[in-house]
Amino acid sequence: MIDIRRKIIKKIHPEGIPAPISNIYNIITRTGIFQEHYALVATELKKYCRKGKIVDIGTGPGWLLLAIRRVLPNLRLSGVDISPGMINKAKYNLHKKNNCKDIELLLGSVTDLLGGRCLTL
Ligand SMILES: C[S@@+](CC[C@H](N)C(=O)[O-])C[C@H]1O[C@@H](n2cnc3c(N)ncnc32)[C@H](O)[C@@H]1O
Repeated sequence: MIDIRRKIIKKIHPEGIPAPISNIYNIITRTGIFQEHYALVATELKKYCRKGKIVDIGTGPGWLLLAIRRVLPNLRLSGVDISPGMINKAKYNLHKKNNCKDIELLLGSVTDLLGGRCLTL
């Protein structure tokens, strides 16, 4: 019974943000107020994490990773998202547009991380 309910809920309200909503989300979050927010978070992170690796779970179009890269260039960065549309946006924003090819982008659910089932694109 719970399984059926879960399946229905997943159909109505899928996990992750599917395309084409990912396109709209990408456009909206490209704007000043969002970019300022990502920059603020990145600056805050600088106080606590100067080396090692950060994994941005539910990274969406990857803007936070880009902001972190700007203030913490030596950190290893990864982004994980369940939405292929979002990972494609992140790939474009990070790898193509900003040449941050070393930022790892993984397609998968956060729940897959421990089981190692994420896909490297
Ligand atoms: C509201 S968006 C935020 C995106 C980004 N963190 C930002 O601030 O712009 C939430 C993101 O989490 C992703 N997401 C939702 N459930 C997830 C899951 N189980 N595992 C990984 N990503 C997930 C969605 O696809 C979406 O890209």
